[in-house]
Amino acid sequence: MAIVISIASQKGGVGKSTTALALGSILGSKNKKVLLIDMDSQANLTYSSGVDKPDKTITDILSDESSSSEAIIKCKYYDLLCADKYLSNVEMSSEVEPTLLKKIVLQPNISKAYDYIIIDTPPSLGNLSYNSLVASNFVIVPVEASVFSMQGIIQLHDTILNIKKYHNKTLNILGILLVKYNKRTILSRNIKETLCNYAKVINTSIFDTTIRQGISVTEAQYQQQPLIDYAIKSKPTLDYINFTNEVLERIENK
Ligand SMILES: Nc1ncnc2c1ncn2[C@@H]1O[C@H](COP(=O)(O)OP(=O)(O)OP(=O)(O)O)[C@@H](O)[C@H]1O
Ligand SMILES: [Mg+2]
Repeated sequence: MAIVISIASQKGGVGKSTTALALGSILGSKNKKVLLIDMDSQANLTYSSGVDKPDKTITDILSDESSSSEAIIKCKYYDLLCADKYLSNVEMSSEVEPTLLKKIVLQPNISKAYDYIIIDTPPSLGNLSYNSLVASNFVIVPVEASVFSMQGIIQLHDTILNIKKYHNKTLNILGILLVKYNKRTILSRNIKETLCNYAKVINTSIFDTTIRQGISVTEAQYQQQPLIDYAIKSKPTLDYINFTNEVLERIENK
């Protein structure tokens, strides 16, 4: 059975899509079978994967207009279910079942075909994030070392508690990932310490690996290439490789 991991935070621009793509491509480079699902109508993960105009998308699957096998695209390190702008209709609809994505992920042609399914979620806690978390075993929360990051985690934690209560008892926060992190500033170090304490309260911890800031991240996205191909020796790439190893260790120890 595939292990399903959502990358989630309702805060915008904190590195969710970057983390989903980096984790997916590094796992793929380790010969793991990986499916990435783009659940954000901004379709940033789809674009960064080199797909400009997908024929079929997750919107078609969620609305029962296409099968998952018709829509899956093969990329170099992973398979991809693309997003499109019409996914925002699913976000806005009042008639979306919370288990819609879970049913798709549990289809044997998906759950048995992959080792890992990684879901990139939008910067909101609406239908799309909710469905992603209901379908997941684990959630990884990227945060920037900012004073607002704590509030974001509190809100997300409330949603996770709700999901655990009603739809997915076993959902587990695998960890909090500090991104665009500069360990040399005192403010960053102070915020990291506060976040560490808060993480304990919500029964998780911060990943030992933090992701440094680097222009290679934005350049790789512009070039529509995975970081490991665009800049294997850059600091963010090395950090994401260490982070992926930590993810595998944490999953093994759960
Ligand atoms: N380690 C990094 N170093 C430098 N820039 C980064 C890093 N991580 C992410 N970025 C940049 O920050 C911006 C936001 O990243 P990303 O799109 O991954 O965030 P997001 O949380 O998915 O955003 P959204 O909430 O809009 O979906 C992008 O321009 C990306 O290139
Ligand atoms: Mg994104």
